[in-house]
Amino acid sequence: MNTSFVPPSRGMLTECVGSAVHAPSLHNSQPWLFRIRRPAIEVYADPTRSLPVVDPDGRELLISVGAAVFTLRTALRRAGYDSDCELLPDPGRPTLAARVTATRVRPVDATIEALAAAIPYRHTDRRPFAQVPVPPDRLGRLRDAARREGAVLTNADQAGRDAVLDLARAADRWLRDQPEYRQELDHWTDHRRRHDGVPVWAAGPWDALELVPLRDFAALSPVRREVEPFEPYPTIGLLSTAGDTPRDWLRAGQALQRVLLTATWQGLATMPISQPVEVPAMRKALAGRAAGRFPQIVLRVGYGRVQMPGATPRRSVSEVLIQTG
Ligand SMILES: Cc1cc2nc3c(=O)[nH]c(=O)nc-3n(C[C@H](O)[C@H](O)[C@H](O)COP(=O)(O)O)c2cc1C
Repeated sequence: MNTSFVPPSRGMLTECVGSAVHAPSLHNSQPWLFRIRRPAIEVYADPTRSLPVVDPDGRELLISVGAAVFTLRTALRRAGYDSDCELLPDPGRPTLAARVTATRVRPVDATIEALAAAIPYRHTDRRPFAQVPVPPDRLGRLRDAARREGAVLTNADQAGRDAVLDLARAADRWLRDQPEYRQELDHWTDHRRRHDGVPVWAAGPWDALELVPLRDFAALSPVRREVEPFEPYPTIGLLSTAGDTPRDWLRAGQALQRVLLTATWQGLATMPISQPVEVPAMRKALAGRAAGRFPQIVLRVGYGRVQMPGATPRRSVSEVLIQTG
């Protein structure tokens, strides 16, 4: 470390945590905690916020934490600091998912400005997208974003798209037939009892064409879910990694968030789709589309037709910050 290096203030690091909580997470479970140890921020997985039915191995939990790690790194970089990011740095503390340490001051570049500016505007859009193809150069930027974080994003061709969507719908049907799946989903969507999870307004309408595999996030709503035709030829990507260890899941999460922020910056709407990676047989079938790599999540990308009505709720910084004794 440079001897003249002045580490970021506690206030600045707290602001970076405030950015990180905007990250996406499975059912908006926000399974993360942070501890500031200047010049580092430790990111912890919070197993009390796991979803044991859909995610028994905690794979999606660590993808969600990885998304928060990337957001944190971006916020720190935007504040003018380079950082080192160690994943799972302490075998004695398995919930310590990452340690992000500010190492030196560096001027901010345009890419970081754009990614950081996208953080509060990135939302999951579960509504129909416009019937406008996503230009190849934009898809190329998304692939590049995944590659920079050590993952591979594959854009499905027509046959691949149909196959992935078939698997996703089959997985969704299979999950819905499990009573414990229903209970878990209800637990994360009951807004009489919680201020996190997925609110009814974010669930969007059903697809009249029954093509896009939408989650049943509005089942508890007394209002009937609207039905609208979605785009008939969705643009689908598959994010995969070379390995399938907790470290790979954290990498996949960072790659996912870099792809999502790049998409937001490019004016694209996004919707993660994870049902097919939650049913082992479907995930295995999906692996056939990933050239020997491990499928981590599917992504629907396109042009949103209307602006999102708002942001889904987040736990406050004070709720996710572990006080250093
Ligand atoms: C690992 C992971 C899996 C997800 N799976 C789905 C999914 O299957 N369907 C869906 O509509 N959204 C999915 N999402 C999006 C989350 O529901 C969303 O990020 C969360 O509700 C917060 O909302 P926001 O993305 O608008 O901030 C997933 C997100 C992550 C990180």
